[in-house]
Formats: sequence, C-alpha cells, structure tokens
Amino acid sequence: MGYAHEYATAVMRRGRIPMEPADFVPNWSDRPRKGKFFPDAPVLPLPDGGCADDATLGRGLFGPRGTGAFSLPLLGAMLRDSYGLTGRRLAVQANSDLGSLPFHTHANWSRGTSSGGGLYPIGIHWLSGASGPLAPGVYYYDTPRNAFARTLSGDVTGEVRTALGDLEEAAETDQFLVLGVTFWQNAFKYNSFSYHVVTMDIGALLQTWRMWARAHGLHIGAALWFDEPRLGRVLGLDPEEDGVFAVVPLTWEKPDEDDTGKQAAPATPGARVRHVPDERSRRVLTFPTVHAIHAATLEGAADRPAPGTLDSALVTPPGPGERVALPAPLALEATARRALRERRSSFGRFTATTPLDPDRLSAALAAAVAAGTLDTDAETPGAAPLTRQYVFVNHVRGIAPGIYEHDRETNELVLMKLGDFGGFLQENYFLANYNLEQAAAVLVPAARTHTVLDTVGDRGLRLVNAVIGATAQAVYTASSAAGMGCGVALGFDCVSFAEELGLAERGEIPLLVMMIGNEAPRPAGYRFDIVAP
Ligand SMILES: Cc1cc2nc3c(=O)[nH]c(=O)nc-3n(C[C@H](O)[C@H](O)[C@H](O)COP(=O)(O)O)c2cc1C
Repeated sequence: MGYAHEYATAVMRRGRIPMEPADFVPNWSDRPRKGKFFPDAPVLPLPDGGCADDATLGRGLFGPRGTGAFSLPLLGAMLRDSYGLTGRRLAVQANSDLGSLPFHTHANWSRGTSSGGGLYPIGIHWLSGASGPLAPGVYYYDTPRNAFARTLSGDVTGEVRTALGDLEEAAETDQFLVLGVTFWQNAFKYNSFSYHVVTMDIGALLQTWRMWARAHGLHIGAALWFDEPRLGRVLGLDPEEDGVFAVVPLTWEKPDEDDTGKQAAPATPGARVRHVPDERSRRVLTFPTVHAIHAATLEGAADRPAPGTLDSALVTPPGPGERVALPAPLALEATARRALRERRSSFGRFTATTPLDPDRLSAALAAAVAAGTLDTDAETPGAAPLTRQYVFVNHVRGIAPGIYEHDRETNELVLMKLGDFGGFLQENYFLANYNLEQAAAVLVPAARTHTVLDTVGDRGLRLVNAVIGATAQAVYTASSAAGMGCGVALGFDCVSFAEELGLAERGEIPLLVMMIGNEAPRPAGYRFDIVAP
C-alpha cells in the first residue's frame, strides 16, 4: 500500500489529529509571490480575442465536445479569463483579512478561477512548436502583467511528446499548456496540507479552461500521467520543490492544409529553461510530508492506466429512499467570460430570508455532474464519474430540509435523513467566515479515494483531487451565471461528515463542502476593475 493512502487518511482526520508540524505559524511578512517573476525574460503582451456572444456557460458545461482550433487571441482570452487578474477584491465580507485589504501590499486580486486560500500557485507554461504564431519556445504566463515571459527560445515540443508517450492527442499537435506548482507558494501557509490543496487547484483551473473552451467550440483534455522528471527538467524545475501536474495538448489553427505541427520536432535532450525565477522569501521551508507524498505520486508517473482500469472506483448507483424530482436546471445563458468575471466566494453573505428556487439547486448539481468527469488520460470516455453529490437541504423552496444524495441519471434527490442540519454544518466548519445554516443547500462531493489508489496507484490522488477542484469551479461558475451565492471550503471535519452521511460502508470520503444560496441584497462593496466589466 502506497504512502498516498496514509496521506489521504491524515488529511481526512486533520480536524481531530492535526497534521505535523502542528505548531506551524506562517511568516506572512516573508511570504512568496503569487506566481513566478523572471526579471530578465523578454515579455510579450497577450492579445485578447474576447468572448463570443453565444459562448454561454450552459454551452461550456453541457454543450457538445468542441472540434475547433486555438489561435493566439483565443488562448490570450482564455488565460485572462481563467488565471489573469480582473479586478481588486474590496467588498465587505466575513473573512478575517478584511481590514488589511485596502492596503496595496495586502491587495487581493480577483480571477475567474477559485483557489484554495486564494494563493494561486499554479504556473502555466505554454510550450509552442514550429506551427505556433510566435518563435518556438517556452512561454510562462505572467499573471500580474497578463503577458508571456519567454523563458526558452527553440522548439522543445519533441521532449513533451516523448514525455507523453503514446498519447494520441499529442501526436497531432506541437502546442501544449503545462501546469506546474512550486510547493512553497502554497506550503508557506498550509505546510503538509498543501499538497491536498494544490492538487484541487489544478482541477479548478482545468475546469475553467474546459468550460471556456467548450463554450467556444474548442476542446480541453489533460494528461495527468507522463514522464514528469523529463518535463520538469525541460522547465528547469527543482524536482524536490516543484511538481508538474498536467499537460494539455492544444489543437492549433493551421494557416493551410499542410502537415505543420505534425512533423517531428528536433531532438533536444539537453534543452532546458535557464532563467531562474526571483524568490521573494528570504527563507524557504520544506516539509517532509510534502516531499513524501510528491515522491509517492511520482512513482509510475509515465505508466498511464489502460482504459477501464478505474471502473471499480467509479460511483455506484444511489441507495433506496423516497425520491424528490428536481426541476430542469435553470438555463445558464451568461457568457463564460461574464460568469467568470462575476464569480466570487460568498464569504458570509448568505441569507435564508427567501428560500432558493429548486431550478438553481438543479443547475448547481448539473454543473457538479458535468465536472465529475474531467477528460483526462486515465478516464474512459462516457464512463460514470468518480464522485457522488450529497446534499444538505436547508432552505430550498418545496424541498423538505434534510440530507439527500443526488441521482445524476434521473436528476432526483434520494432522501437519507429528514431534519434540520444547520447546527451540524456550523459545528463541523473550522472557520468563522460562513454561516452554513443560512446557505440554501450544502453540496458535498465524495469519492472512493482509497479504491482509486488501489486501482491506478498513488498518482491517482492527483486525479481524485483534480475532479473535486473541477467540481468546485463548475459549481462556483454556474452559481455566478444563475445569480446565486456560492462558497466552497476544505475547512470542515471530514470524519463527522462521513459519520453523519454513513459513508464507511461505501468507502467514500467527503472531500469538500460547497454552499449555495441567496445572498443579502445590495452588499457593501467598492468597485475596482482592471479589465472592462
Ligand atoms: C480547493 C479549494 C478549497 C477552498 N477552501 C476554502 C475554505 O476552506 N474556506 C473558505 O472560506 N474558502 C475556501 N476556498 C475559496 C477560496 O478561498 C477562494 O476561491 C479564494 O480566496 C479566491 O476568492 P474568490 O473565490 O472570491 O475569487 C477554497 C477554494 C478552493 C478551490
């Protein structure tokens, strides 16, 4: 049994038995940057191709798989809408950092994608070959400048294809987005727990891209199994301090019907990024648990699971119980860009004065189901998801308060227990920034993490967590388009939830809480946009 089992169990129990180092206190004044800064790398501003009027979030979540091709303006728009800064967070909410937000040095910038602790640790690298619009090379997405920093000149996409092995999508393109994480960017705050958070962040970002791309008739799928040390070498990463978590092959526009992009790139076994990012922290700490779980997920990194391997870990049909039919999901007609621009965490603003309309709950659940499969290389197309949604209904019009599980096939809620669980939800939430009882409903995605690890090995932890992160991002963005509040949280006692939901028998772990509901009208705020609203 690999170390990932132990890590997943420690994460699950951390509300009762803190993870080591239990006495850790972050040194906020020595925190790292959110993102890498390459002082000497040439910078290229990104074009913004905009967002088409018919690129609705509904299409992004539920539309057909895209067959179109990316261009630089489309890539620029997708990056801006996913990880680029769009404005400054200055609204009044219930987080403990509220008082410091008006100070420029403590500013929080809004982005389309959510991120655990708002730390945004993912590095986005575009590896572009000969068919691309710029000189072939490696380009790092510099989020504060919304620009590419060129960290390497030359075509290294042959290395990417080799690292991806026999992945079909890789053979047809020489354009790749590679997602890396420097652990310190999250671990300075969350220490041993950071691996759990950053692997969810990967899924959240992938899900933004999937929705954005599908809304534009494009497709985003990701490889999670590849020769990671090889790619890390190309990107100049320190294998102890950085991980490479996903590779996204992009179908790119072709100027004419030639074979550009399909030809073999030159062999470049020694090529690597030599620019070194500037480290802001004077003291960078490492955590043995982070090293151990990273090493565990590196084992067999290139041994992609064969189709069907995950079958025994997929969600099982719901249990017996009285059924409540949900109405059709509210249509999500906002464009993907608008929904992402307006996405934000509710942070204490829920109010149950007016119960939530059930078609909004239905839309949130449909979004969660859509993100339950992530189009990764380990999943079998058309197979069931890894996750099930449990629903604590607090205040939804026409639905009795209680605990339900969602039947994704019939869009029904299956009753598990009637009752008011507001007190339970609040008692088992660690922070003081939400009143969970005032949320109309709390969705809890659960998965059989240990079975996934048994079937595909320790690297499967990244897959489960990515699916949960994707689910969070889908529900957030759907809530934005549906005009309701949303907030997701890892700060809850998983053990209590597993007991209350009776999950031991199913071998499932509750992995996140996702609150949705109405918010108090006209909340106090201060508008500060970086991009045109
Ligand atoms: C995986 C994940 C875990 C999160 N956990 C919490 C949490 O425990 N408590 C909380 O208040 N917010 C949590 N959040 C929300 C983030 O704090 C939030 O997305 C981030 O601060 C950016 O703010 P915004 O969502 O308003 O843009 C989480 C988000 C993600 C993606």
